[in-house]
Amino acid sequence: MTRGFVHSPAPTRVVFGAGTVTAVAEEVRRLGGSRVLLVARARHAERVAAALGDLVVARFDGARMHTPVEVTAQALDVLKGAAADCVVAVGGGSTTGLAKALAVRTGVPQVILPTTYAGSEVTPVLGETENGRKTTRRSPDILPETVIYDVDLTLDLPVSITVPSAVNALAHAVEALYAPDANPAVDAVALQAIRGIARALPAVAANPSDVDARAELLEAAWLAGSCLAAVSMGLHHKLCHQLGGQFDLPHAETHTVMLPQVMAYKQNEAPEALARVAEALGVPDAAAGVFDLVRSLGGPTSLRELGLTESSLDGIEPASVLRAAWAGVRPDGVPDVSALTAQVIASFDDTPDPRLKQLITDLVRHLHHFAVSNDLTEQEWLFAIGFLTRTGQISDDKRKEFVLLSDTLGVSSVVDALTNSRSPLTTPSAVLGPFYVEGPPAMDRGADISGGLDGEPLWVSAAITDTDGKPVPGAVVDVWQSNKDGFYDVQLPDLDGPVLRARFVADDEGRLEFWTILPHEYPVPEDGPVGQMLDGTDRHPYRAPHVHFMIGAPGFHTLVTQLFVKGGLYLDSDTVFGVKEDLIVEFGHGEGAPPAGREVADGWRRLDYTFRIGR
Ligand code: BEZ
Ligand code: FE
Repeated sequence: MTRGFVHSPAPTRVVFGAGTVTAVAEEVRRLGGSRVLLVARARHAERVAAALGDLVVARFDGARMHTPVEVTAQALDVLKGAAADCVVAVGGGSTTGLAKALAVRTGVPQVILPTTYAGSEVTPVLGETENGRKTTRRSPDILPETVIYDVDLTLDLPVSITVPSAVNALAHAVEALYAPDANPAVDAVALQAIRGIARALPAVAANPSDVDARAELLEAAWLAGSCLAAVSMGLHHKLCHQLGGQFDLPHAETHTVMLPQVMAYKQNEAPEALARVAEALGVPDAAAGVFDLVRSLGGPTSLRELGLTESSLDGIEPASVLRAAWAGVRPDGVPDVSALTAQVIASFDDTPDPRLKQLITDLVRHLHHFAVSNDLTEQEWLFAIGFLTRTGQISDDKRKEFVLLSDTLGVSSVVDALTNSRSPLTTPSAVLGPFYVEGPPAMDRGADISGGLDGEPLWVSAAITDTDGKPVPGAVVDVWQSNKDGFYDVQLPDLDGPVLRARFVADDEGRLEFWTILPHEYPVPEDGPVGQMLDGTDRHPYRAPHVHFMIGAPGFHTLVTQLFVKGGLYLDSDTVFGVKEDLIVEFGHGEGAPPAGREVADGWRRLDYTFRIGR
């Protein structure tokens, strides 16, 4: 469905960096201000006051959370008494809220210097409380004109405040992703914000004065705030405002408790948005991931911790969310196995071979993720183990069920794509399959490899060249294929010795020629675990008709490939995903006398092909 949208980026001027507090006087003058009311309850007020110098005509230090209107009235008196023409606010959400409340009442411009990650400095939204009720309004007059982000002002923010504040920012980005009025620009910014917070927050918690991590977190908080500005309010923000106003709860901590619970509640309604959140966070489940992040960083996870009684929440909807939030249950009830995964990965710390270490630890990570994200049951896992056991039991040197499993799951073709076919100059490769037998019988030019088996005679005339088209004399070419009923010799116990497989050596012009029979489509073996998998998933077992080639020559990479009969069945649904466009070739009708003195009763076919191999 086409997504229609309106995008109207906010006009706020943003100055970002380290030491940018020194720009504050210039930014005030830019806005035409000369008499500043400094709203500062926070640390660093003196730094800002010093940078403003005699531009400051008054100060107000009484900003309070949730912007109570009576506090705003006091500040307004100060502003008017001093005839201030600009508000500069330094601090968190409360000072920003007060600056906005003053601006919307008087029209004075605002310069905000955030010291937390609230994000409200870039939103046109103002929440105020009067008699315990929070009202929220939105207006372009509320939006601050200029925001100065100075990472230096955030370095000493304690971890216990940093975590809830950053989760508050995370909430802005998460809610933007499932907002009905988001757009591609908001989505991209929100995902970048989530990635930034997920990366930087643990780093800041581990080392609070890490300037780079602080800068990344502050940048992400700005992006998150700008998402909130662009969309209408979602369930989480509405609930937090309601709870905050009603119970005078700490703002950021309320976000921290509520966010994972609301995300879990939204999972059914907005699965795609939450899947993107999970990916950006690098976790299997978005809600549980946020819960774990908060818990691991020591943030609050329950309303109980914030001092609420369970019964005080009666009547607030959705009740299930409030109940879970009060108790602090991990969303979905999925246990957190991240410590277990970390422990298993750490057990490989001393692996001497770095490649082995990389492969095995990543395999463990993917397997754990697979189990968790699918909420795997013990029964399912035992079935999988039984399936693999049977795959091994049915296998021997002729029956290669594991190869077949890899083929039918497309893994062989993925590995083939990664290993071979990297040059457009060589003939594309294709999977080896389970029916190759080492050391096929050597045959001479013009021989018939069909051992007299029934089928439409096929004359194959091939050349082997390098990537410049120069012949490769002496190239060793192994050929194998099925009979007209789709069986390879190794599948036919009554056959005496190898049939429909041979080894040729290319002549001085790099050529080889032989008789065989036209291949047909055939089912891969269905009487084992792979057959059970295909049957259980309603997949057909057929391979498109083809002949296999393995071509080697000293100094060249060995080419393993197949040629497919143009017009054959199953070319676009080959059950092992082996077909490549360039390998589908004409097996045309032969004209005139059959080569090599052969006599045929009816018609015959011919295949002419030049293989290019690379060094
Ligand atoms: C084959 O073409 O021989 C083959 C390849 C993959 C799986 C089964 C058969
Ligand atoms: Fe085959």
